[in-house]
Amino acid sequence: MASEERQELDSRSEALYERVLKPKTAETSIEVPETPTSNAIEVRNLDFYYGRRKVLEGISVDVYQNHITAIIGSSGCGKSTFLKALNRIGEIEGHVNVRGTVKFFGQDIYSRQVNVNRLRRHIGMVFQRPNPFPISVYDNVAYGVRRIGAWRRNLDEIVEVALRSAALWEEVKDDLHKSALGLSGGQQQRLCIARALAVEPDVLLMDEPCSALDPISTMKIEELLRQLRSRLTIVIVTHNMQQASRVSDYTAFFNTDESRIGQLIEFGPTVKIFTSASNSSTRNYVEGRFG
Ligand SMILES: Nc1ncnc2c1ncn2[C@@H]1O[C@H](COP(=O)(O)OP(=O)(O)O)[C@@H](O)[C@H]1O
Ligand SMILES: [Mg+2]
Repeated sequence: MASEERQELDSRSEALYERVLKPKTAETSIEVPETPTSNAIEVRNLDFYYGRRKVLEGISVDVYQNHITAIIGSSGCGKSTFLKALNRIGEIEGHVNVRGTVKFFGQDIYSRQVNVNRLRRHIGMVFQRPNPFPISVYDNVAYGVRRIGAWRRNLDEIVEVALRSAALWEEVKDDLHKSALGLSGGQQQRLCIARALAVEPDVLLMDEPCSALDPISTMKIEELLRQLRSRLTIVIVTHNMQQASRVSDYTAFFNTDESRIGQLIEFGPTVKIFTSASNSSTRNYVEGRFG
């Protein structure tokens, strides 16, 4: 690995360590302006096709830095697809076609020059079903860090910091070298969050991360999300309206048209979407009248 890459990694892990282990200042309540100035991701006129089948049309939305954006909408309206379009992970599953632009801090992620592995390091993902690898807790968290070439001296620290950030350290610190598959579902999901955090992403995409979990694990993850918000940008797909209103700052409502193509119907501050949405289908959906 090139020495400048090592240096970059070293300073990144130091920065992570600094931020996490430093005593926290009291959590300030985050203002939710109608339009914050800083976008982590800008999506413009996005059309998404699996092969020839169009599943998203004309999506334009901003993902605000250091805020939590919830994606809601009924099953099949393209929420997971939208999320996967943001770090190009959809391409792993097969041939996809993308029109329009997705910019990550101003850079077009679909440009030919983009290194997708690097992109996915900056924009991490947590899936619906916890998917730890059948290796130890430690090796799970270290996995991505090893792939990008961290050296031994820092690795223990990086693993500890990531596990602390995912509110899992106290529960696993004596069993770091036991198999991750022995953990409960909620612990496994927090492990997957730790694994995603270990490479210090700027954005974390979460696709219904609590849908396979019990209420207590769900509560722990929601609490964790609120803490993480000060350090990174989160986009979370959720089926749970209470969850969307509890954890997110902004909400995007997706729906399908008569040809079953997913569209963004409404986007705004979560409070507005849940109390005074402009669109009648948004109001019907959040009030539980369909979906
Ligand atoms: N890999 C794929 N290949 C082809 N069609 C897909 C694929 N994944 C999802 N779809 C289709 O795209 C549409 C949107 O799916 P998805 O993004 O999973 O919706 P949601 O997450 O909102 O339930 C659905 O009609 C689904 O059947
Ligand atoms: Mg989905």
